[in-house]
Amino acid sequence: MLGQDYQIRMKLKVLFLILTLNMSLITSAESFGIVVHGGAGVLSGLSIERQQEIENKVKDTLISAYKILEDGGSSMDAVEFAVSEFEDSTLFNAGKGSVYNSDEVQEMDASIMNGADRSAGAVASVQIIKNPIKLARKVLEETDHVLLVGRGAEIFAKDIEETIVDRSYFHSEKNLKRLKKAKKRISDNNIIEDKIGTVGAVALDKNGNIAAATSTGGMTNKMPGRVGDTPIIGSGTWAQNDVCGVSSTGHGEFFIKYQVAKEVCTRIEYLNETLEKASSDIIKELLKIDARGGIIAIDKNANTSMPFNTDGMIRGSFTNKSELYVAIY
Ligand code: GLY
Repeated sequence: MLGQDYQIRMKLKVLFLILTLNMSLITSAESFGIVVHGGAGVLSGLSIERQQEIENKVKDTLISAYKILEDGGSSMDAVEFAVSEFEDSTLFNAGKGSVYNSDEVQEMDASIMNGADRSAGAVASVQIIKNPIKLARKVLEETDHVLLVGRGAEIFAKDIEETIVDRSYFHSEKNLKRLKKAKKRISDNNIIEDKIGTVGAVALDKNGNIAAATSTGGMTNKMPGRVGDTPIIGSGTWAQNDVCGVSSTGHGEFFIKYQVAKEVCTRIEYLNETLEKASSDIIKELLKIDARGGIIAIDKNANTSMPFNTDGMIRGSFTNKSELYVAIY
């Protein structure tokens, strides 16, 4: 009698284990989604029309990127697509909307990382590349290097026939005015809105692969040759399968010194923290040293997090576990 009970209990235990294992396989295999940002900073001066325009662009981009993932596309394709959409818009500080450096030239940075194998590609200080994020991916796929800068990056772009544009493509009266204003206020410390703005995307695909991509024009009035966190793997961009993917926006120098993107994943990996805790804690810690900005992050279960310590961050997410979400404040 006792033996029969024991056998039944054991059979139930085995059945339960098989069910749990299947459930977790199904859950992780089916989780997918994308998170994007369009920069953090002082965004309170935005008109209602401008806010609407930005929200529509973020929404459309999320819907298309989600479709890539839903159709079985890779997280690398989804993040490259999302970032290049923002680069082609004048609404964001990246690609066509890039701000001017102190010499009235746009110098752009971008990076992309594949969490499946930690392969990464980046470009910095490029001036004539229509989509720096696409060139960053080519650095990853077609060279033995991770980061190409300036003229070398542009020669590589010409060699592989990546789209080159005249510098006038990036001209913007609005950004030029912003530069002149920043120069006038050079002795004023309160120039936070001129310091930050970047675009980025992180995604998890149906195969469990995480990717991250980030692109920027940097800071208005930056010194020629200044490179921020965006093309620095571990600072502006990080992707690690089974842990998380992160893209940063903010005052780049701090994000380099605190290795922000990688730090989020490190806390999850070694301290067993949730994505939400690791992401929001680091953004709070940065505020203590007046390091302004934000991050977007996704983990292996398509949990998402979008903390920021500025008055706004253009952001949005769409996963198979959560509704389409877009916000600025
Ligand atoms: N986070 C962008 C930059 O500082 O260049």
